[in-house]
This record gives sequence, C-alpha cells and structure tokens, in this order.
Amino acid sequence: MNNHHSSVIVGKASGSSRYDPVVHRPSVKVTGLGHYVPEKIVTNADLAELMDTNDEWIRTRTGICERRMADISQSTSDLAVEASKEALRSAGIGAQDIDLIVVSTITPDYYMPGIGVLIQDKLKAPPVMALDIRGQCAGFTWCLATADGYARLGGMKNILVVGADLQTRILDYSDAGRNTAVLFGDGAGALILRVDQDAQQLATVDNTVSGLIDHELGSDGSGCLSLYVKRPGMMAGKERFMTTQDMDERSTVPHMDGRQVFKHATLKMESLVRSLCKKHGITPDDIDVLIPHQANFRINEMVRGKLGLPHHKVVNVIDKYGNTTSATLPLCMAEAQKDGRLVRGKLVMTVAFGSGFSWGANLLRW
Ligand code: ACO
Repeated sequence: MNNHHSSVIVGKASGSSRYDPVVHRPSVKVTGLGHYVPEKIVTNADLAELMDTNDEWIRTRTGICERRMADISQSTSDLAVEASKEALRSAGIGAQDIDLIVVSTITPDYYMPGIGVLIQDKLKAPPVMALDIRGQCAGFTWCLATADGYARLGGMKNILVVGADLQTRILDYSDAGRNTAVLFGDGAGALILRVDQDAQQLATVDNTVSGLIDHELGSDGSGCLSLYVKRPGMMAGKERFMTTQDMDERSTVPHMDGRQVFKHATLKMESLVRSLCKKHGITPDDIDVLIPHQANFRINEMVRGKLGLPHHKVVNVIDKYGNTTSATLPLCMAEAQKDGRLVRGKLVMTVAFGSGFSWGANLLRW
C-alpha cells in the first residue's frame, strides 16, 4: 500500500482567501442509510403461472428466488420517498436540511419532469436542485460521484442520494418476455452524504477516516441495443412519441441480448475493481466489503472468483429482490449493515454494470 493519498491537502488554498474548487476538496461521508421494498412478494412459482418458466430455471440461471412488486397505489417516487425518510431519520436530520438531491431511476413517474423534483415535493425539502441521473444499473455509482463533485462547489452540508426503480410495470409477463420479466423487481434505497468543508483529514485507503475516496465511471453507447426499451421516444422515422402500434409490436418492453450483457458485465466489473484498486495502491484483498450490482448471482460469483475474494466479503441480495436496477447498491448496503458486515471504518467498493452500456465503481471508507 502506498501513502501518496494521505498527504491530500484539505481546506481552502493556502495563502489565498479566494475559494478554489480545484484545490478545495471537502470530506463527504455517509451519515444516513435507508431502504424500502414493497410488501408484495412475487415468487418464481407465481411467475410460472403467467409464463412458460419455472423455479429451477430462474434459480440456477440467476440466483433469484423472489422479488417485490409495488402496489398499484404507489409510484416510483413513493418508493424513493420511503427510503429517503429512513435515510434522513438515520442521519438525524430533517428534509429541511437537504441541500441537494441526486437520484437515479430508469422508471420515473412521468416522462417529464424527472423524479427528483417529485421526491423533493413529497419530502417538503427546500427548493434546492433535484437532479435526475440516467445511468441505468450503474446509476447509483454515478449519483455518488456526482454528489461528491457538487460538494466541491461549496455551500452544502447534506446531500440526499437516491436510487429507485419500479420495473414490474414495464415488463412483459407473457412467454415472449420471459427472459427479462423474471429478472427485475421494485425497490428503493437512499443515502445522506454529510459534507464537511473544513475537515482536517480526508478518507484514504491508508487511514480509517469515513468518506468517499474515489470513483471510476464510464459508458460505451455501442452496446445500447444489447439492452433497451425502444419506445416511447423521439426516434427518427416515428411521427409520434408513442402509438398503439408500438404496444402491439412490444416496443415498450425491455429487449435484451442476455449473453452479450453477461459477458461484458463480468469483464468490466472485474476490471473496474482492479483499476480502482491499482490507482490507490491496494489489491482487491484490501477491500473489506464489495457491493456489486445485482443483475445475476452467477455474474457476481464469477467476478468474486476472478478477484479471489471470500464469500463473506461480497454482498448479494438478488435471491430476495431480483434486479432492482438503481436500488441494488443501497439495498445491499442496508443488508450488510443489518448483518454487521458494514460498520464504520470498513473499506467498501461498489461496482455496477448495465444498459448503455454504462458502468461505475465507488471506493469509500464507511
Ligand atoms: N424460463 C425458462 N427458460 C427461459 C427463460 C425463462 N425465464 N428465459 C429464457 N429461457 C430459455 C431461452 O429461451 C433459451 O431457450 P433455447 O435454448 O430453447 O433457445 C434458454 O433458456 C437459454 O437462454 P439464454 O438467454 O441463452 O440463457 P442464459 O444462460 O444466457 O441466461 C440470463 C439468461 C439469465 C438473462 C443471462 O443471460 C443474464 O443474466 N444476462 C445478464 C443480465 C444483465 O446483466 N442485465 C444487465 C443489468 S439490467 C440493466 O442495466 C437495466
């Protein structure tokens, strides 16, 4: 392990009272965690009544046993608000203390506006910026990095970061949609990030100070058609945003080349972990808790095996919740906190890959 990060200078540029966002790097740490999943459980056997599938296929190919389904009375923003309220409670602050909202979803309540403003309104948060991020399954990693970046602008203490998705209303529960319908579930998770502009020390891999350390993000649009929902949208050649013909042609449900996504996910998730470790002079062994996106248990097992990590260091909740897209990482955090794996001082890495293709990893000291 090298020590080059322990010398990071914090606070304002010395010898100048002028605020310099390049030099100034505040401490940004997690002080609150919340999650929410709908009450209704949909088992593999339930799905087998709707389409040509079975429990054995779903379990062995994906690791999923059941998933949650939102009630018809709930919108995506309602799931997000429940998770946010729990995060606020656990941070010991109120909605009035929020200085920025950053949220990831691919299933917003409305096409316009985004979900951030709805969360803000329902929480009765102040009129701060409420930013939607479209990073698909990597969205929560992008949210954390975005919040970390905005924190450097100054003037904020508490940032609400949310990941929420309500997938069950977009899926095709007929035989034609079985390769995606069995994978996804509904849920939400949220973090409160506390920004300390005057911290004496920043989190690094070499100390036990809590805080975000670094991020690695990326995307490759040439993989777009490997997992996408074609309509509604402003596609060239289509006169209207959406037509009944789009519904008839199944253009409004997800289409996925599962094998392509699987292959890219395993390669990229492993390389992201290695790359962020290398940048900080550590090896995967030094990570205490690895929190991978929950798309397929086999993907996570392959990544774990290639990194040579023991089972107890890698968090999985896919058996209970399926793929909740933007919510998988905070749902894993909640699980790992409950079972005692995620405690202050632990070195944590998140890593995610999804539609886009898009990917991201965050390194943080819990
Ligand atoms: N039940 C039973 N059989 C099924 C089902 C089902 N639900 N779905 C597909 N099959 C059949 C197929 O029709 C095929 O049958 P055939 O051989 O007669 O043609 C057979 O099972 C094998 O299908 P494959 O798609 O080749 O199965 P595979 O082993 O690749 O598993 C899976 C499919 C689970 C989808 C896998 O490819 C995967 O997990 N891919 C990655 C998913 C992912 O990472 N998504 C990204 C995140 S999502 C996001 O970003 C929003």
